[in-house]
Amino acid sequence: MSIINLFPLTIIKDKINMNDNEKVKMIEEIRLMKKNSKNKDYQTQSNAWTGDTQGYEFIHKNKSFGKLFDEIKKRVLEYLKCVEIDNKLIDIYIQRSWATISEGEERIKKHRHFQSHISFAYYLKKNKEDSNLVVFDESYKNEIMPGIFRSDTALQKGIVKKMNQFNVTQAIVNIEEDDIVIFPSKTIHSTQPSKSNKERISISADIICVAKDSKLLEMGLPPLNEWTRI
Ligand SMILES: [Fe+2]
Repeated sequence: MSIINLFPLTIIKDKINMNDNEKVKMIEEIRLMKKNSKNKDYQTQSNAWTGDTQGYEFIHKNKSFGKLFDEIKKRVLEYLKCVEIDNKLIDIYIQRSWATISEGEERIKKHRHFQSHISFAYYLKKNKEDSNLVVFDESYKNEIMPGIFRSDTALQKGIVKKMNQFNVTQAIVNIEEDDIVIFPSKTIHSTQPSKSNKERISISADIICVAKDSKLLEMGLPPLNEWTRI
């Protein structure tokens, strides 16, 4: 017997080894952003601090992060290579980027990045015990009985004997400091709940791909210089 698995979700993971001085500088800048938050009431007790909601959503324009973003760009090109998108035929834009800080049991709830195509998370500061990334499936292709692989009682009763790679609907991606993960922006993701974080710091961004030439091309965003503001 053979098992044929089709249509995967692909996430790439790589290391970015910045030197200690560069990392300390970025960490200090991010701590300062948190200190000078513009919308302090927005962060509830259980939620992590997210810079994009606090007035710091363009850190790719901040010089202290320049070298990091140069490295990130290389990985984004690798990601496009993986899914066979020709980067010579598209313009790639970082449209926004921000840092997150999780302290104690703070977490980032399930969400997706509606306004972009490719997203990433780079882990600037992370202890082994800090929360990892969780990704959620939405297609449930093998869920022959609707809802059965999302049901705690189905597991308790033993109808579903255990979760495995063929029935799982959410998965933990284990992350270490200096890792970057790149994934489709539409992927639902969160941080691991009920984990105690010791100032876990990550950096995320949203990336858009625009066709350099839209002639005879039905899908994809046409070049920005063809757009007209109304
Ligand atoms: Fe996210």
